[in-house]
Amino acid sequence: MEDTEKKIKILIADDSEMNRAILAEMLGEGYEILEAVDGEEALACLDRCGSEISLVLLDIVMPNLDGFGVLARMNQTKQIEEIPVIMISAEDGAEAIRRAYNLGISDYISRPFDMEVVRKRVTNTLMLYAKQKQLLEMVAEQVYEKQKSNTLMVNILSHIVEFRNGESGLHVIHVHMITKLLLEYIRLKTDRYSLSDSDIELIAMASALHDIGKIAIPDEILNKPGRLTDEEFKVMKTHAAMGASMLEDLPVAQGEPLVRYSYEICRWHHERYDGRGYPDGLKGDEIPISAQAVGLADVYDALTSERVYKKAFTHEKALEMIVKGECGAFSPFLLESLTELADTIREEVEKGPADYSGEVKVNIERAEKMLKERQRKGEAR
Ligand SMILES: [Fe+2]
Ligand SMILES: [Fe+2]
Repeated sequence: MEDTEKKIKILIADDSEMNRAILAEMLGEGYEILEAVDGEEALACLDRCGSEISLVLLDIVMPNLDGFGVLARMNQTKQIEEIPVIMISAEDGAEAIRRAYNLGISDYISRPFDMEVVRKRVTNTLMLYAKQKQLLEMVAEQVYEKQKSNTLMVNILSHIVEFRNGESGLHVIHVHMITKLLLEYIRLKTDRYSLSDSDIELIAMASALHDIGKIAIPDEILNKPGRLTDEEFKVMKTHAAMGASMLEDLPVAQGEPLVRYSYEICRWHHERYDGRGYPDGLKGDEIPISAQAVGLADVYDALTSERVYKKAFTHEKALEMIVKGECGAFSPFLLESLTELADTIREEVEKGPADYSGEVKVNIERAEKMLKERQRKGEAR
């Protein structure tokens, strides 16, 4: 049996059976040819096979849906960016050709055509697209690798701090995950903080550094099992400003958004919404959203984990304490978001540290549904 799986698939959409046969014949045995008798069949075929199709040879004048209709749909579905289209038609008025190019075709061949020219243009287009695809994949791979190393370095650094703090290595991971969930959820609810994908990514990454200032706190205070004296607590509190000044003193990368977010987070993750936090006593939205989100995530995770000086509270108890203001004041808007995300956060934490990132997305989709549901109910009332 012949192996058709590895052959390049080409879709020929033409209402004339003879034209299809001529084109198929001309392209030869090297390709797997799919045929469509009109625009609608062509679209159905594109839906079914998607990016398995490497090229479309498209006629303009066809019953039901013409070639322009096919191109318009391929623009809507963005398939036109992935699958090259060569238009073959006797409709060679300049206007039609221009319109076809505007709709994204790669090439235009007018009938009657020269067999050799068609074959050459087909192979050229296929090659060009294959190269472009390869380049895109390479760029994506490089971006991914760079991102991966950045995350890795940040995680190593924060793990060192945690190790000295006697915190479980999970704290940074939890704070990262909760911060990201909170910010993505906040963005669904409001555009007040104008957060882009990259802002959220960077803030979540920078969250791992929130306590780097603790590296400068003496061991006896940092890992003291009992309560800290007022004097010791004063020293402990310096970790926020200390972390920020470490970042400020970085000899390089001062303009980098990651450094800016890390600075905000280090300095202000213990600020509180009512102005009673430290070190600067900032109030309300004077506290950058990055620091507000990390501050809340930090408190939640600190409550639900065991520390030298305390046992772990349950998820429900921790939420209750936070909402009641027992751990300082947070933005009502952030508290509402945390409450709405509560189940999602608990599930994520319970799942363990195995790569959260994929799941966060799924859960955000679920949270989004919950939000819509709530809004629907609110409107109905
Ligand atoms: Fe801290
Ligand atoms: Fe922390």
